[in-house]
Amino acid sequence: MKLGIIGTNWITAQFVAAAQASGAYTLSAVYSRRAETAEAFIAKTAPAVAYTDLAAFLASDLDVVYIASPNSLHAAQTLQAVAAGKHVIVEKPMVASLDELAAIQDALAAHPGVMVFEAARHVHDPNFAVIRDWVATHDIAGADLRYAKYSSRYDAYLAGENPNIFSPRFAGGALMDLGVYLVYAAVAWFGVPESAQYLPHKLANGIDGSGTARLQYPGFDVTLTAGKTFNSLAPSEIYSGRETLSFDSPGELNRVALVGEQERELTVAKAANPMADEAADFAAIITRDDRQAAADLMALATKVHRVMAQLRQSGGIDFTNNAE
Ligand SMILES: NC(=O)c1ccc[n+]([C@@H]2O[C@H](COP(=O)([O-])OP(=O)(O)OC[C@H]3O[C@@H](n4cnc5c(N)ncnc54)[C@H](OP(=O)(O)O)[C@@H]3O)[C@@H](O)[C@H]2O)c1
Repeated sequence: MKLGIIGTNWITAQFVAAAQASGAYTLSAVYSRRAETAEAFIAKTAPAVAYTDLAAFLASDLDVVYIASPNSLHAAQTLQAVAAGKHVIVEKPMVASLDELAAIQDALAAHPGVMVFEAARHVHDPNFAVIRDWVATHDIAGADLRYAKYSSRYDAYLAGENPNIFSPRFAGGALMDLGVYLVYAAVAWFGVPESAQYLPHKLANGIDGSGTARLQYPGFDVTLTAGKTFNSLAPSEIYSGRETLSFDSPGELNRVALVGEQERELTVAKAANPMADEAADFAAIITRDDRQAAADLMALATKVHRVMAQLRQSGGIDFTNNAE
Protein backbone atom coordinates (compact mmCIF):
# COMPACT_ATOMS: atom_id res chain seq x y z
CA MET A 1 0.00 0.00 0.00
CA LYS A 2 1.10 3.51 -0.69
CA LEU A 3 1.39 5.44 2.55
CA GLY A 4 0.94 9.18 2.97
CA ILE A 5 1.76 10.94 6.20
CA ILE A 6 0.52 14.10 7.91
CA GLY A 7 2.78 15.48 10.66
CA THR A 8 6.55 15.20 10.52
CA ASN A 9 7.61 14.78 14.14
CA TRP A 10 9.54 11.76 15.54
CA ILE A 11 6.37 9.70 16.01
CA THR A 12 5.74 9.76 12.27
CA ALA A 13 9.29 8.61 11.57
CA GLN A 14 8.72 5.76 14.04
CA PHE A 15 5.46 4.79 12.31
CA VAL A 16 7.08 4.91 8.86
CA ALA A 17 9.87 2.63 10.12
CA ALA A 18 7.29 0.19 11.53
CA ALA A 19 5.23 0.35 8.34
CA GLN A 20 8.21 -0.31 6.12
CA ALA A 21 9.46 -3.13 8.33
CA SER A 22 6.05 -4.82 8.00
CA GLY A 23 6.66 -5.06 4.25
CA ALA A 24 3.08 -3.91 3.61
CA TYR A 25 3.58 -0.18 3.02
CA THR A 26 5.73 2.08 0.86
CA LEU A 27 6.02 5.75 1.75
CA SER A 28 4.67 7.73 -1.21
CA ALA A 29 3.57 11.18 -0.01
CA VAL A 30 4.52 13.55 2.79
CA TYR A 31 2.33 16.48 3.80
CA SER A 32 3.78 19.32 5.84
CA ARG A 33 2.92 22.97 6.26
CA ARG A 34 6.38 23.77 4.95
CA ALA A 35 8.11 22.26 1.91
CA GLU A 36 11.51 22.26 3.66
CA THR A 37 10.09 20.21 6.54
CA ALA A 38 8.58 17.67 4.15
CA GLU A 39 11.86 17.43 2.20
CA ALA A 40 13.87 16.99 5.41
CA PHE A 41 11.51 14.20 6.52
CA ILE A 42 11.87 12.48 3.14
CA ALA A 43 15.66 12.82 3.30
CA LYS A 44 15.81 10.97 6.61
CA THR A 45 13.17 8.29 5.83
CA ALA A 46 12.41 7.23 2.24
CA PRO A 47 11.83 8.73 -1.19
CA ALA A 48 8.36 10.30 -1.52
CA VAL A 49 6.61 13.31 -2.98
CA ALA A 50 6.40 16.38 -0.74
CA TYR A 51 3.14 18.35 -0.50
CA THR A 52 2.15 21.55 1.26
CA ASP A 53 -1.40 21.46 -0.11
CA LEU A 54 -3.55 18.96 1.77
CA ALA A 55 -6.08 18.57 -1.04
CA ALA A 56 -3.31 17.82 -3.57
CA PHE A 57 -1.71 15.35 -1.13
CA LEU A 58 -5.06 13.55 -0.71
CA ALA A 59 -5.64 13.57 -4.47
CA SER A 60 -2.36 11.68 -5.03
CA ASP A 61 -2.34 7.91 -5.56
CA LEU A 62 -1.78 7.07 -1.88
CA ASP A 63 -3.93 4.31 -0.34
CA VAL A 64 -3.68 5.04 3.36
CA VAL A 65 -2.96 8.18 5.38
CA TYR A 66 -1.24 8.18 8.77
CA ILE A 67 -2.21 11.32 10.71
CA ALA A 68 0.03 12.51 13.56
CA SER A 69 -0.91 16.17 13.82
CA PRO A 70 -1.96 18.00 16.99
CA ASN A 71 -5.08 16.39 18.53
CA SER A 72 -7.58 19.08 17.57
CA LEU A 73 -6.79 18.59 13.86
CA HIS A 74 -7.33 14.81 13.80
CA ALA A 75 -11.04 14.74 13.07
CA ALA A 76 -11.07 17.37 10.31
CA GLN A 77 -8.08 15.78 8.56
CA THR A 78 -9.65 12.32 8.90
CA LEU A 79 -12.87 13.61 7.34
CA GLN A 80 -10.95 15.13 4.43
CA ALA A 81 -9.08 11.87 3.85
CA VAL A 82 -12.24 9.76 4.00
CA ALA A 83 -13.95 12.12 1.54
CA ALA A 84 -10.98 11.57 -0.78
CA GLY A 85 -11.51 7.79 -0.50
CA LYS A 86 -8.35 7.08 1.52
CA HIS A 87 -8.02 4.70 4.46
CA VAL A 88 -6.93 6.49 7.63
CA ILE A 89 -4.72 5.56 10.57
CA VAL A 90 -5.14 8.48 12.96
CA GLU A 91 -3.16 8.96 16.13
CA LYS A 92 -4.80 8.82 19.52
CA PRO A 93 -6.98 10.52 20.52
CA MET A 94 -8.90 10.26 17.23
CA VAL A 95 -11.42 12.90 18.35
CA ALA A 96 -11.78 15.65 20.93
CA SER A 97 -15.59 15.49 21.15
CA LEU A 98 -18.46 13.09 20.48
CA ASP A 99 -19.64 15.38 17.67
CA GLU A 100 -16.35 14.76 15.87
CA LEU A 101 -16.78 11.00 16.38
CA ALA A 102 -20.32 11.15 14.94
CA ALA A 103 -19.03 13.08 11.92
CA ILE A 104 -16.40 10.42 11.23
CA GLN A 105 -18.96 7.66 11.54
CA ASP A 106 -21.32 9.47 9.16
CA ALA A 107 -18.47 9.88 6.69
CA LEU A 108 -17.65 6.17 6.92
CA ALA A 109 -21.28 5.31 6.28
CA ALA A 110 -21.10 7.45 3.14
CA HIS A 111 -17.81 5.80 2.07
CA PRO A 112 -18.26 2.13 2.98
CA GLY A 113 -15.06 1.06 1.20
CA VAL A 114 -12.90 3.22 3.47
CA MET A 115 -11.53 2.19 6.86
CA VAL A 116 -10.52 4.46 9.74
CA PHE A 117 -8.32 3.15 12.56
CA GLU A 118 -7.33 4.91 15.76
CA ALA A 119 -3.63 4.26 16.39
CA ALA A 120 -4.01 2.95 19.93
CA ARG A 121 -0.75 1.02 19.57
CA HIS A 122 -0.92 -0.81 22.91
CA VAL A 123 -4.14 -2.61 21.93
CA HIS A 124 -2.06 -4.45 19.30
CA ASP A 125 0.79 -5.34 21.68
CA PRO A 126 0.77 -9.10 22.44
CA ASN A 127 1.06 -8.29 26.16
CA PHE A 128 -2.25 -6.42 25.96
CA ALA A 129 -3.90 -9.75 25.04
CA VAL A 130 -2.06 -11.52 27.89
CA ILE A 131 -3.72 -9.15 30.36
CA ARG A 132 -7.09 -9.30 28.60
CA ASP A 133 -7.05 -13.12 28.81
CA TRP A 134 -6.04 -13.08 32.49
CA VAL A 135 -8.86 -10.66 33.30
CA ALA A 136 -11.36 -12.79 31.37
CA THR A 137 -10.57 -15.83 33.52
CA HIS A 138 -10.52 -14.12 36.95
CA ASP A 139 -13.02 -12.42 39.25
CA ILE A 140 -11.76 -8.87 39.36
CA ALA A 141 -11.63 -7.00 42.68
CA GLY A 142 -10.17 -3.76 41.32
CA ALA A 143 -7.34 -2.21 39.33
CA ASP A 144 -4.96 0.73 39.40
CA LEU A 145 -3.72 1.74 35.95
CA ARG A 146 -1.00 4.35 35.63
CA TYR A 147 0.73 6.28 32.87
CA ALA A 148 2.66 9.35 33.98
CA LYS A 149 5.75 10.65 32.23
CA TYR A 150 7.43 14.01 32.72
CA SER A 151 7.13 15.69 29.35
CA SER A 152 10.04 17.61 27.87
CA ARG A 153 7.36 20.01 26.64
CA TYR A 154 6.41 20.72 30.25
CA ASP A 155 9.76 22.48 30.51
CA ALA A 156 8.73 24.58 27.52
CA TYR A 157 5.36 25.29 29.15
CA LEU A 158 7.10 26.36 32.36
CA ALA A 159 9.38 28.59 30.31
CA GLY A 160 6.31 30.49 29.12
CA GLU A 161 5.95 28.82 25.72
CA ASN A 162 2.70 27.29 24.52
CA PRO A 163 3.50 23.76 23.31
CA ASN A 164 0.61 22.10 21.48
CA ILE A 165 0.26 19.21 23.92
CA PHE A 166 -0.16 21.66 26.81
CA SER A 167 -2.59 23.81 24.87
CA PRO A 168 -6.40 23.82 25.12
CA ARG A 169 -6.49 25.05 21.52
CA PHE A 170 -4.93 21.77 20.37
CA ALA A 171 -6.92 19.55 22.77
CA GLY A 172 -3.87 18.69 24.84
CA GLY A 173 -3.42 17.61 28.45
CA ALA A 174 -2.75 14.46 30.43
CA LEU A 175 -6.13 12.82 29.88
CA MET A 176 -6.07 13.31 26.11
CA ASP A 177 -2.40 12.38 25.71
CA LEU A 178 -1.80 9.54 28.18
CA GLY A 179 -5.15 8.96 29.89
CA VAL A 180 -6.59 7.71 26.60
CA TYR A 181 -4.24 4.68 26.79
CA LEU A 182 -5.65 3.90 30.23
CA VAL A 183 -9.27 4.29 29.12
CA TYR A 184 -8.60 1.96 26.17
CA ALA A 185 -7.14 -0.61 28.55
CA ALA A 186 -10.00 -0.34 31.05
CA VAL A 187 -12.71 -0.58 28.38
CA ALA A 188 -11.01 -3.42 26.50
CA TRP A 189 -10.29 -5.46 29.65
CA PHE A 190 -13.23 -4.67 31.96
CA GLY A 191 -15.88 -3.24 29.63
CA VAL A 192 -17.76 0.04 29.74
CA PRO A 193 -17.91 1.37 33.32
CA GLU A 194 -21.19 2.23 35.04
CA SER A 195 -19.81 5.67 35.84
CA ALA A 196 -16.62 7.60 35.13
CA GLN A 197 -15.28 10.65 36.94
CA TYR A 198 -12.10 12.63 36.43
CA LEU A 199 -10.34 14.81 38.98
CA PRO A 200 -7.79 16.81 37.00
CA HIS A 201 -4.96 18.87 38.37
CA LYS A 202 -5.14 21.88 36.08
CA LEU A 203 -2.30 24.17 35.14
CA ALA A 204 -2.73 27.94 34.95
CA ASN A 205 -3.91 27.76 31.31
CA GLY A 206 -6.69 25.26 32.18
CA ILE A 207 -4.91 22.19 30.79
CA ASP A 208 -4.79 19.10 33.01
CA GLY A 209 -1.12 18.48 33.75
CA SER A 210 -2.16 15.34 35.61
CA GLY A 211 -5.27 13.74 37.00
CA THR A 212 -6.96 10.73 38.53
CA ALA A 213 -10.08 9.02 37.23
CA ARG A 214 -12.38 6.60 38.95
CA LEU A 215 -14.29 4.11 36.84
CA GLN A 216 -17.01 2.18 38.65
CA TYR A 217 -17.87 -1.36 37.59
CA PRO A 218 -20.35 -3.75 39.16
CA GLY A 219 -18.45 -5.01 42.22
CA PHE A 220 -15.16 -3.14 41.75
CA ASP A 221 -13.51 0.15 40.87
CA VAL A 222 -10.66 0.98 38.50
CA THR A 223 -8.53 4.05 39.15
CA LEU A 224 -6.53 5.71 36.40
CA THR A 225 -3.59 8.03 37.02
CA ALA A 226 -2.27 10.07 34.08
CA GLY A 227 0.38 12.75 34.29
CA LYS A 228 2.71 14.81 32.12
CA THR A 229 4.27 16.81 34.95
CA PHE A 230 5.92 13.95 36.88
CA ASN A 231 7.26 10.43 36.40
CA SER A 232 5.42 7.53 38.02
CA LEU A 233 7.57 4.44 38.47
CA ALA A 234 4.88 2.57 40.44
CA PRO A 235 3.45 -0.43 38.61
CA SER A 236 -0.09 -0.79 37.34
CA GLU A 237 -1.97 -3.61 39.08
CA ILE A 238 -5.10 -5.70 38.66
CA TYR A 239 -6.45 -7.53 41.71
CA SER A 240 -8.25 -10.87 41.90
CA GLY A 241 -8.55 -12.38 45.38
CA ARG A 242 -5.06 -13.39 46.49
CA GLU A 243 -3.61 -12.85 43.03
CA THR A 244 -2.17 -9.59 41.74
CA LEU A 245 -1.22 -8.98 38.14
CA SER A 246 1.47 -6.33 37.86
CA PHE A 247 2.76 -4.50 34.79
CA ASP A 248 4.57 -1.25 34.09
CA SER A 249 1.92 0.80 32.30
CA PRO A 250 -0.85 -0.12 29.85
CA GLY A 251 0.84 2.31 27.46
CA GLU A 252 4.20 0.53 27.56
CA LEU A 253 3.65 -3.13 28.53
CA ASN A 254 7.31 -4.05 28.80
CA ARG A 255 6.73 -6.44 31.70
CA VAL A 256 3.69 -8.38 32.88
CA ALA A 257 3.91 -10.70 35.92
CA LEU A 258 1.95 -12.26 38.72
CA VAL A 259 3.36 -10.94 41.99
CA GLY A 260 2.87 -11.60 45.69
CA GLU A 261 2.01 -15.09 46.92
CA GLN A 262 2.28 -16.48 43.44
CA GLU A 263 5.10 -15.16 41.27
CA ARG A 264 5.05 -15.86 37.56
CA GLU A 265 6.50 -14.05 34.59
CA LEU A 266 3.90 -13.58 31.85
CA THR A 267 5.67 -11.14 29.52
CA VAL A 268 5.53 -12.04 25.84
CA ALA A 269 8.43 -11.03 23.58
CA LYS A 270 7.54 -8.22 21.22
CA ALA A 271 8.91 -6.09 18.41
CA ALA A 272 11.43 -3.38 19.26
CA ASN A 273 9.39 -0.75 17.45
CA PRO A 274 6.26 -0.17 19.60
CA MET A 275 4.24 0.64 16.48
CA ALA A 276 5.14 -2.57 14.61
CA ASP A 277 2.12 -4.59 15.76
CA GLU A 278 -0.47 -1.96 14.91
CA ALA A 279 1.11 -1.22 11.52
CA ALA A 280 1.00 -4.94 10.64
CA ASP A 281 -2.57 -5.38 11.97
CA PHE A 282 -3.96 -2.39 10.05
CA ALA A 283 -2.26 -3.55 6.85
CA ALA A 284 -3.69 -7.06 7.24
CA ILE A 285 -7.21 -5.73 7.86
CA ILE A 286 -7.08 -3.39 4.85
CA THR A 287 -5.51 -6.00 2.57
CA ARG A 288 -8.09 -8.67 3.51
CA ASP A 289 -10.85 -6.03 3.32
CA ASP A 290 -11.81 -7.35 6.74
CA ARG A 291 -14.65 -4.96 7.48
CA GLN A 292 -15.69 -6.84 10.59
CA ALA A 293 -12.26 -6.35 12.17
CA ALA A 294 -12.29 -2.66 11.25
CA ALA A 295 -15.82 -2.30 12.66
CA ASP A 296 -14.79 -4.08 15.87
CA LEU A 297 -11.90 -1.66 16.38
CA MET A 298 -14.18 1.30 15.65
CA ALA A 299 -16.72 -0.09 18.14
CA LEU A 300 -14.00 -0.22 20.80
CA ALA A 301 -12.90 3.33 19.91
CA THR A 302 -16.51 4.49 20.19
CA LYS A 303 -16.84 3.05 23.70
CA VAL A 304 -13.52 4.61 24.66
CA HIS A 305 -14.47 8.06 23.40
CA ARG A 306 -17.83 7.95 25.17
CA VAL A 307 -15.93 7.36 28.42
CA MET A 308 -13.40 10.06 27.48
CA ALA A 309 -16.31 12.48 26.99
CA GLN A 310 -17.71 11.59 30.44
CA LEU A 311 -14.28 12.12 31.97
CA ARG A 312 -13.81 15.48 30.27
CA GLN A 313 -17.26 16.61 31.30
CA SER A 314 -16.83 15.58 34.94
CA GLY A 315 -13.39 17.21 34.99
CA GLY A 316 -14.58 20.48 33.45
CA ILE A 317 -12.52 20.01 30.28
CA ASP A 318 -14.15 21.26 27.08
CA PHE A 319 -12.23 21.91 23.90
CA THR A 320 -15.17 22.73 21.68
CA ASN A 321 -14.67 26.49 21.89
CA ASN A 322 -10.92 26.23 21.42
CA ALA A 323 -10.59 24.12 18.29
CA GLU A 324 -9.45 25.82 15.13
N1 LIG B 1 1.48 6.54 19.55
C1 LIG B 1 2.42 7.14 20.21
O1 LIG B 1 3.25 6.53 20.87
C2 LIG B 1 2.51 8.64 20.14
C3 LIG B 1 3.64 9.30 20.59
C4 LIG B 1 3.72 10.67 20.44
C5 LIG B 1 2.66 11.36 19.87
N2 LIG B 1 1.55 10.68 19.48
C6 LIG B 1 0.41 11.39 18.87
O2 LIG B 1 0.85 11.96 17.66
C7 LIG B 1 0.23 13.22 17.46
C8 LIG B 1 1.30 14.25 17.21
O3 LIG B 1 2.03 14.43 18.40
P1 LIG B 1 3.32 15.36 18.40
O4 LIG B 1 3.79 15.40 19.76
O5 LIG B 1 4.23 14.95 17.29
O6 LIG B 1 2.61 16.75 18.03
P2 LIG B 1 3.24 18.12 17.53
O7 LIG B 1 4.72 18.06 17.59
O8 LIG B 1 2.54 19.23 18.25
O9 LIG B 1 2.77 18.20 16.02
C9 LIG B 1 2.91 17.12 15.13
C10 LIG B 1 3.03 17.63 13.71
O10 LIG B 1 1.88 18.38 13.37
C11 LIG B 1 2.25 19.54 12.63
N3 LIG B 1 1.84 20.72 13.40
C12 LIG B 1 2.44 21.23 14.52
N4 LIG B 1 1.83 22.35 14.91
C13 LIG B 1 0.83 22.56 14.03
C14 LIG B 1 -0.16 23.56 13.90
N5 LIG B 1 -0.20 24.61 14.75
N6 LIG B 1 -1.02 23.49 12.88
C15 LIG B 1 -0.96 22.47 12.00
N7 LIG B 1 -0.04 21.46 12.07
C16 LIG B 1 0.83 21.52 13.07
C17 LIG B 1 3.76 19.50 12.47
O11 LIG B 1 4.06 18.99 11.19
P3 LIG B 1 4.52 20.00 10.01
O12 LIG B 1 5.41 21.03 10.63
O13 LIG B 1 5.24 19.10 9.09
O14 LIG B 1 3.27 20.57 9.41
C18 LIG B 1 4.22 18.53 13.52
O15 LIG B 1 5.31 17.76 13.12
C19 LIG B 1 -0.61 13.49 18.70
O16 LIG B 1 -1.96 13.21 18.40
C20 LIG B 1 -0.10 12.53 19.74
O17 LIG B 1 -1.11 12.08 20.61
C21 LIG B 1 1.46 9.34 19.58
